[in-house]
Amino acid sequence: MQWTLILTISLSVISLTTSQTNNIFDFWTDLFRPLPHAKKEGFVPDYTPKNNQKFDFIIVGAGSAGCVLANRLSEISDWNVLLLEAGGNENFFSDIPIFAPFISITPMNWDYSSEPEKRACKDLRGNVCYMPRGKVLGGSSVLNFLIYQRGHPEDYDDWEDMGNEGWSYKDVLPYFKKSENIRIPELYNSSFHGKGGYLDIDYASYSSPLETAFKDAGQELGYTWNDPNGENLIGFSKPQATIRNGRRCSSSKAFLEPIRYRKNLKVSKYSTAKKLLIDPLSKIAYGVEFTKKSKRLRVYARNEIILAAGTVGSAQLLMLSGIGPADHLNEIGIEPIINLPVGYNLQDHVTFSGNAFIVNETGLCVSDMIAASPMSAAAYLAGHGPLTIPGGAAGLAFSHTKYSNDLSDSRPDIEIVMGAGSLAGDFLGIIRSLLGVTDEFYLKVYGSLPIQKRQQSFALNPVLIRPRSIGRLTLRSSNFDEHPKIQPNYFDNSNDMKIIIEGAQKIINTKSFQKYDTKLHDVPFPGCEDLVGTCKMGPADDPTAVVSPRLQVHGAKGLRIADASIMPRIPASHTHAPVVMIAEKAADMIKEDWDKPIFKIS
Ligand SMILES: Cc1cc2nc3c(=O)[nH]c(=O)nc-3n(C[C@H](O)[C@H](O)[C@H](O)COP(=O)(O)OP(=O)(O)OC[C@H]3O[C@@H](n4cnc5c(N)ncnc54)[C@H](O)[C@@H]3O)c2cc1C
Ligand SMILES: *[C@@H]1O[C@H](CO)[C@@H](O)[C@H](O)[C@H]1NC(C)=O
Ligand SMILES: *[C@@H]1O[C@H](CO)[C@@H](O)[C@H](O)[C@H]1NC(C)=O
Repeated sequence: MQWTLILTISLSVISLTTSQTNNIFDFWTDLFRPLPHAKKEGFVPDYTPKNNQKFDFIIVGAGSAGCVLANRLSEISDWNVLLLEAGGNENFFSDIPIFAPFISITPMNWDYSSEPEKRACKDLRGNVCYMPRGKVLGGSSVLNFLIYQRGHPEDYDDWEDMGNEGWSYKDVLPYFKKSENIRIPELYNSSFHGKGGYLDIDYASYSSPLETAFKDAGQELGYTWNDPNGENLIGFSKPQATIRNGRRCSSSKAFLEPIRYRKNLKVSKYSTAKKLLIDPLSKIAYGVEFTKKSKRLRVYARNEIILAAGTVGSAQLLMLSGIGPADHLNEIGIEPIINLPVGYNLQDHVTFSGNAFIVNETGLCVSDMIAASPMSAAAYLAGHGPLTIPGGAAGLAFSHTKYSNDLSDSRPDIEIVMGAGSLAGDFLGIIRSLLGVTDEFYLKVYGSLPIQKRQQSFALNPVLIRPRSIGRLTLRSSNFDEHPKIQPNYFDNSNDMKIIIEGAQKIINTKSFQKYDTKLHDVPFPGCEDLVGTCKMGPADDPTAVVSPRLQVHGAKGLRIADASIMPRIPASHTHAPVVMIAEKAADMIKEDWDKPIFKIS
């Protein structure tokens, strides 16, 4: 048992860390692709543009948003579209839902970290929070925990109230549905879900008695077992996930792979955009300078350039190209072309992931021993078993804490994600290294627990979904390779801290969990996943806005942004589904502006 475990894990780690250079893993990935999807899925061919080649549209970044944009824009057959992506292919291991935390210790991650934080990340290496971001076709949708959530309707009504016409919930719901292929039978008839879209949404087929305890605990506390993407957000549920037959359905697998032979779409992998070419007088963005295999190339756009490089990438690229706060750009020696508040308005949900609740029975929780067993591997090949649990998350709860401004409000302030296992069961230190937890800290907290107890543990991770703290992203220098400075300012608002302390305890005190004599072993610490907002959307008269409600960069021509960075305020959900929606809507706005037919809202 021990040996299989060590072997499986080492194989995974070796393959993941070499995946960007070694095609043998493309072979394995192909081998394990389920047959019914053999046509739909497959490696996207790599194309290297010639120096000075022209395209109608250039999209930078093939993440959650970029893959959607590439698909939708290339639906217009007389448009030539180029998609530039810094990373390479996903692989067999990044497909395994429960291994989500692994992917962040591979070259598929840009490996950003925050500046040392005053009030958070104390037990992490150097007091810095790790900020994983995907560098691979599919972007952060290859690193993420697969959870599919849209947030609260009023989140989008707020966007509209901030001056963003066309972004209310009633306007965006059709776009959520457009992408979706719901595969959960009881939701087939729901007016909130879409069928036949590119993105598969399903449950993991695995469930354990822990899930039942969670459902019962919810009932005891007076919550319904519901669809958080439906009528009411508040309630308990099993996570809906971007899963296809038990495997990760990333943005690339959903939107890019099925159309990989479309003649008018070219995808250039391992291509890092270093600078946008902008005419300083007319402010027209006319090209992109990028490097591929240490060659520097330029490509030109006849119609538009669309940035989909993510909250870090898009803001970084704008500033390196002379669009940003003039004082900051001058300070680091970049000639400002357009003075805009790029990098402000950085928002995130803080997740607390270190806690461990111990139960007195085996067979409830999933430790890495169970995950790596041959039985689990065999079940996975058939699309079942504990490996299909999305990022290890087995239950979700949205509720109010007493710090919520209005308890009758239908908008929750906290989400609790139940992990089927916990950090205590992280014998091999993989989750620790993702979170940046020191070994000393791990041993201090969990060292006293016998191994068996560590295996009988699960987690309830509170997520602050309406954070009040706002941070900032700035450049360190004018050199692309120096990572930007990320200052999230977690807990600048003291209410943020209080909310998380209350979270999980309520659930544990229920009879449903006390029948397993459930005890909290120790307090959690933060992690961060949903960075948004550095290129805020707002009308021209909003001094904090970077892009217009049609996603055009204020003051520039031929340049749009469509990714997580444009969110004026973070919704009460994880951010993948909202980003996919943003990209769907952006594609229609672009088609509309160039007089092409658009999707009919039903
Ligand atoms: C560990 C983790 C867990 C998460 N869990 C969840 C979850 O369970 N559910 C959920 O909804 N959300 C989750 N998220 C958040 C969600 O995945 C992101 O918000 C979303 O993927 C962001 O989409 P994006 O298109 O804005 O950026 P990304 O998906 O990050 O895409 C940006 C792309 O641009 C590329 N790029 C950047 N700069 C350049 C450049 N200069 N040149 C060329 N290419 C470039 C990158 O390589 C990347 O592929 C999680 C995120 C992380 C990191
Ligand atoms: C959905 O609606 C159709 C037609 O009204 C009905 O036949 C079917 O049983 C419904 N399916 C579910 C899962 O409720
Ligand atoms: C676990 O604890 C509960 C509550 O104290 C007890 O009823 C139950 O018998 C215990 N189970 C085991 C296997 O010890």
